[in-house]
Amino acid sequence: MSERVVIIGGTSGIGLATAELLLGRGCEVVVAGRSAERLELALKHLDGAAQGRTVDASDEGQLAEFFAGVGPFDHLVVTLTANGGVTSLLDLTPAELRRHNEGKLIPQLLSVKAALGTLRADGSVTLLGAVSSQLSAPGLVVLASSNAGVETAARILAAELAPRRVNAVSPGVIDTPWWDWVPAEARQQTLDGAGAGTAVGRVGRPEEVAHAIAFLVENTYTTGVVLPVDGGARLGVTAG
Ligand SMILES: NC(=O)c1ccc[n+]([C@@H]2O[C@H](COP(=O)([O-])OP(=O)(O)OC[C@H]3O[C@@H](n4cnc5c(N)ncnc54)[C@H](OP(=O)(O)O)[C@@H]3O)[C@@H](O)[C@H]2O)c1
Repeated sequence: MSERVVIIGGTSGIGLATAELLLGRGCEVVVAGRSAERLELALKHLDGAAQGRTVDASDEGQLAEFFAGVGPFDHLVVTLTANGGVTSLLDLTPAELRRHNEGKLIPQLLSVKAALGTLRADGSVTLLGAVSSQLSAPGLVVLASSNAGVETAARILAAELAPRRVNAVSPGVIDTPWWDWVPAEARQQTLDGAGAGTAVGRVGRPEEVAHAIAFLVENTYTTGVVLPVDGGARLGVTAG
């Protein structure tokens, strides 16, 4: 029987690419996000092969209703995120710090908690951090601390929720709609600059991260790891 995978954040970018990949490998996939419009477009993109539901994962009531509606499943993938989060400490406001954590770290953890009633007892959870957790670049204090929180949580939860497996993927700069918060005229330049700062000399594609997520979903002996998929961005070297 095919494995059932729930992807919260599966209506865009890396989550959507993961849905496509796992459907191709014979999984049954449920994609979710807040926007009904985005969900409809994603389901169309997936040729009607996936199921879909709306949920705001920052709301525990909505999460309880969501998982009750989904029913039993085997694997949870959480690719949701807040956008932005780049600021110096001097410009940092409590509101910005809260916004980013309430948009990423908190809903990722609430998603896992809410899933426990219906997630298979030896199933898996895959969270998404980011390479910012490993970098020392000025301006990343909010983004990096929120992502470091997610990646540390994966390791802790692997111990706490065993025998369920819990892992995280730590992507570098990937060309997805996440970057739409950057003004259109600066978007390509920002991505090109980020790509040039990696060992492989380019930004990543969502399907490259999807491969890593699929590995963590499928490999039944891997737990408590944070898998970088960043073209070597964390190494501090650039393509020769
Ligand atoms: N793209 C990159 O360069 C990059 C780099 C490092 C790490 N990452 C991480 O990789 C993961 C995937 O990123 P991406 O680039 O695929 O982002 P994306 O294209 O912006 O997709 C984010 C998805 O999350 C959903 N979402 C956001 N908040 C939600 C909430 N509260 N409840 C339910 N769904 C929610 C969005 O749908 P709605 O808006 O409709 O809710 C959307 O489907 C994120 O955790 C991101 O931080 C990305």
